[in-house]
Amino acid sequence: MYKVNTNFLKLPGSYLFSNIARKIREYSEAHPDDEIIRLGIGDVTQPLAPAVVKALHDAVDEMADAGSFKGYAPDLGYEFLRNTIAEHDYAARGCKIDPDEIFVSDGAKCDSANIQELFSVNNRIAVCDPVYPVYVDSNVMAGRTGTYDAETGTWSDVIYMPCTQDNGFVPELPKYDPDIIYLCFPNNPTGGTMTKEQLQRWVNYANKNGSVIIYDAAYEAYISEADVPHSIYECDNAKYCAIELRSFSKNAGFTGVRLAYTVVPKELGFYNSSFGEARLHDMWARRHGTKYNGAPYIIQKAGEAVYSDEAQAQLKEQVGYYMENARIIKDGLTDAGYQVTGGVNAPYIWLKTPGDMTSWEFFDHLLETAHVVGTPGSGFGPAGEGYFRLTAFGSRENTERAIERIKKL
Ligand code: MLT
Repeated sequence: MYKVNTNFLKLPGSYLFSNIARKIREYSEAHPDDEIIRLGIGDVTQPLAPAVVKALHDAVDEMADAGSFKGYAPDLGYEFLRNTIAEHDYAARGCKIDPDEIFVSDGAKCDSANIQELFSVNNRIAVCDPVYPVYVDSNVMAGRTGTYDAETGTWSDVIYMPCTQDNGFVPELPKYDPDIIYLCFPNNPTGGTMTKEQLQRWVNYANKNGSVIIYDAAYEAYISEADVPHSIYECDNAKYCAIELRSFSKNAGFTGVRLAYTVVPKELGFYNSSFGEARLHDMWARRHGTKYNGAPYIIQKAGEAVYSDEAQAQLKEQVGYYMENARIIKDGLTDAGYQVTGGVNAPYIWLKTPGDMTSWEFFDHLLETAHVVGTPGSGFGPAGEGYFRLTAFGSRENTERAIERIKKL
């Protein structure tokens, strides 16, 4: 008789965004005439940039020709894309990342869930609270967490680093030393940021403590302030302690196209008494090679096109469009008396729920009275209770209509 990984059974309910999708479905079935505006999941709505669409078409034509047809992609990514990423995302910012430290994949969600496979189950993880749920849930599945306390909404054996109004939504260094630290800045869900100086403190801490930082920089394209780093490798000695996750979903609208990459520097080495000197880089390459057959050629060509001057100009406009939505949400809610943060270096607006409403009470209230969907802060962790996230990724029209409706409540 087979035996299952019972760690999966420890997980309460379903994944946050699946849960929300189910609630919307149920509400729509019961109220078919209510027109719902979705500002919940951070999914883009603007079409792909024309320069990217052209690259996709050209790549499809190549695939239609026997002379240029491509089969399996190199499992770690095509050199043309890895070289382009190294040049534009790193060298241009003064960070020395070799193309072969870049591992191309089909999504940062998968990478952020898969990366924990490199570490043994007895590592202690630290996460911001609130946090993107994938980091915690994937560690639960792997058996790296203890038991779930439904009352506090926390797992034993996990270090939670509260990000609250009191600390400006920037975590303090933990009291107990973690082995693996997850950081996401600009932050999902609070929209908060760390300055380079603040991030350097984390890098110094991790290097001193022998911890690894898994740095999710999926939202870097939304940074508008000069002292906010776009990559953790802008900090000194970060290559000795940090893995970086990057995505094409939010900067280039690839949520339905799927492309991302992870940087695992060669400096991330260690000594093991049974196996001697080893590197996380080589372990991740081995994992990628074994479990993954490479992102499609067509999609990697589209990814390369993202860095062309033409696409960069088009995408700057697209990011500007979403950030104007962020401004509309932020100003509109502030005028309506809400306490609001985020939306300056990130496409997320984080608001305090009115009165004593819990996050889920406010979700229901907003759905039933304004027919607007957002994401309950408590879905991201206990410190998110009493907060609510709205995304700036909607269309302009829907964003304006949603705010008008909320203002009338
Ligand atoms: C979110 O809404 O938090 C994001 O869209 C989730 C994701 O990027 O997977």
